[in-house]
Amino acid sequence: MLVALLALLAGAARAQKFEGLADTPPMGWNSWNRFACDVNEQLVREVADAMVASGLRDAGYRYVNIDDCWQGERDARGFIQPDAARFPGGMKALADYVHARGLKFGLYSDAGWKTCGGRPGSRGHEFQDALSYAEWGVDYLKYDWCFTDGLKAEGAYLTMSQALRQAGRPVLFSLCEWGNSKPWEWAQKVGHAWRTTGDIFNCFDCIKDHGDWKAFGVLQILDLQQGLRAHAGPGHWNDPDMLEVGNGMPAHQDRAHFSIWALLAAPLIAGNDLRNMSKQTLSILANRELIAVNQDTLGVQGLRHAVRDGVEFWFKPLAGGDWAFMALNRNPQPRRLSFNWVAEDVRDDVSRRDAALATTRYALRDLWTGGAAGDTGRALQAELPGHDVLVLRLTPRP
Ligand code: GLA
Repeated sequence: MLVALLALLAGAARAQKFEGLADTPPMGWNSWNRFACDVNEQLVREVADAMVASGLRDAGYRYVNIDDCWQGERDARGFIQPDAARFPGGMKALADYVHARGLKFGLYSDAGWKTCGGRPGSRGHEFQDALSYAEWGVDYLKYDWCFTDGLKAEGAYLTMSQALRQAGRPVLFSLCEWGNSKPWEWAQKVGHAWRTTGDIFNCFDCIKDHGDWKAFGVLQILDLQQGLRAHAGPGHWNDPDMLEVGNGMPAHQDRAHFSIWALLAAPLIAGNDLRNMSKQTLSILANRELIAVNQDTLGVQGLRHAVRDGVEFWFKPLAGGDWAFMALNRNPQPRRLSFNWVAEDVRDDVSRRDAALATTRYALRDLWTGGAAGDTGRALQAELPGHDVLVLRLTPRP
């Protein structure tokens, strides 16, 4: 009896993040990529409505997250207040509005004195802020890393994780310290996802130099994921940053961007204006077969099998013996592909799975056209346009 009680207490002391909130990568929307600091409650309500009306909620998108600049000042007792001009109805009413539509509500804060946008940060107010979030009905917290001189990331994020835990309302905790202190090595018990890089921006293959920091295009972010896949899994994901789909790249690049994030088992957090999106953008974000690859319950991040002539060949093992396959043409010009399945040795050391392509024949399904695409008994021959992808699902033939 005493032993059982002690074991229980020891377990409670160890308990940190809330379990079961991110068994598959989180899906939702965040204001930053499209609206930056220009956020207000009307926008958030309209986005929540659009998430439902567009069918994105039913495709799996759940979180409606306000990024930086929602904060006003702290009150006399140190409690954070929303910016009264932008959020006159307050956060509780806004969270209620979002919840009433079958969605979840997220906010942003920062481990330092100020947020990156110069609003009050949570440093010194972590437990107060966690209490406010719980009262308001917050389900997701993105926690940034500006103005943190002298702080150690592991301790700072652990403090907020424990504050959320103490406040009692389950909150998905998303770390955003840009991969600086290798969060994949320590954050598994602290949070549900961690950014692996600096910020994305709306370009397929470029770097934007802001002087003291750089923003990265899709391919640059992809290249920074190398070596990290063993650290991801159900409940704890590598986060290569939010989506830029629908923010101005041409459709083939948006398609490639979305496919890469799907194969990486990355959080799928849309960053466009859901109220005004083209049919094409919607068809990319709502591609259920790609979403199924991303949300697969095995939770294994994809592996880069080979790179030939600027074309990358990726595989992701899926629950039940299927595999996802992606050919990504990094070149701006088209490439003729030839991929002889039976001669490829696809083994995954992380999930200890072997596709056994020499002996197992798989049926192929094209996840962008939705059509059957033959099987692995015959070499794949295809023309792949520049900056585009071919994504297939392999299912063992009986
Ligand atoms: C940092 C983060 C971004 C965004 C901004 C807000 O740059 O990495 O994702 O949250 O701050 O100021």
